[in-house]
Amino acid sequence: MSAIGVIGGTGVYDPSIFENIHEESLMTPYGEIDYVQGTYNDKTVIFVARHGKDHTIPPHKINYRANIWGLKKLGVRFIISTTAVGSLNETFKPGHFVLTDQFLDFTKNRITTFYEGGDRPVAHLDVTNPYCPELRTIIESVGKQQDLHIHNGGTYVCTEGPRFETPAEIKMFHMLGGDTVGMTNVPEVNLANEAEIAYTTISMITNYAAGISESSLTHAEVVDMMSEMASQLKLLILGTIDAIDINADYDAHHRMAEYGGFKL
Ligand code: HPA
Repeated sequence: MSAIGVIGGTGVYDPSIFENIHEESLMTPYGEIDYVQGTYNDKTVIFVARHGKDHTIPPHKINYRANIWGLKKLGVRFIISTTAVGSLNETFKPGHFVLTDQFLDFTKNRITTFYEGGDRPVAHLDVTNPYCPELRTIIESVGKQQDLHIHNGGTYVCTEGPRFETPAEIKMFHMLGGDTVGMTNVPEVNLANEAEIAYTTISMITNYAAGISESSLTHAEVVDMMSEMASQLKLLILGTIDAIDINADYDAHHRMAEYGGFKL
C-alpha cells in the first residue's frame, strides 16, 4: 500500500485534519516511532510529529533515521514536511510560505546517513535536487490557488540548535546565500532521499532572524506565528494530498539506483 507521509514540525501536532485516524507505534532498527495513520479522500496518510506530540524532543535529539525508516516501511512514497524558519531575505516576510530548494548544512552532531558500511555499503547520495522539484511545483500551484504568499525556491540554513543564532552568524549565512534558517531539515531531507522517498518541506516564516529582527527572539513568537498560519497550512497540505498522484514516479524514487536501490 502506498501512502503520503506528513512530518509536522513546530506548531504542527494535530493529525485530526485527517479522517479515520488511529495512533500506532512501530519498532525500527533505530528505535521506536509513534505515528498516526489516517486517510484523506481515500489516500492513506501517515503523520509523524517531529518533536513528539507534546513538543518534548529538541532538534538535535530527534531520531531522524527511525522516522524516515518507519515511513518507508509503512509504504510512504511522498513526504510533505513542515518547518518553522527565521528569514534572512527581506522578500520572505513573516506569514509567507517557502518551498525550500537547497540547504546549507551547519549541523554538528547528527547521524547523517543510513549507509554506514556493513549491511549498507558506502554510498554517496546525489543532492543536486534534494527537495523533489515535482512536489514543489504541485504545492506551489495549490498555494497560489489558495492565494497564499508562497515562494518556490530558497536556501535553508540548518543549524545545530537548540539555541537561536547570533547576529554575526546570520550575517555570515546571508553572505553565503542563505534565505531561511531552521534546525531540523538536515539530515531529514538526506535520509528521505537515501530511502528513495520524494521529499519536500513547506517552510513557514515565523520571524526575521536574529539581528535582522530588532527585538530578541522567543520561542513563543515562533509558536504564535505558527498558530496564525495553521489554518492556511492545513488547507495547503490537504490540497497537496489531493493533487498528488500516488503512483507518480519521480527521480527521487530512484535516487540510490547506482547502489542497487534502498533496501529496508
Ligand atoms: N532560527 C532558527 N530556527 C528557527 C527560527 C530562527 O530564527 N525561527 C523558527 N525556527
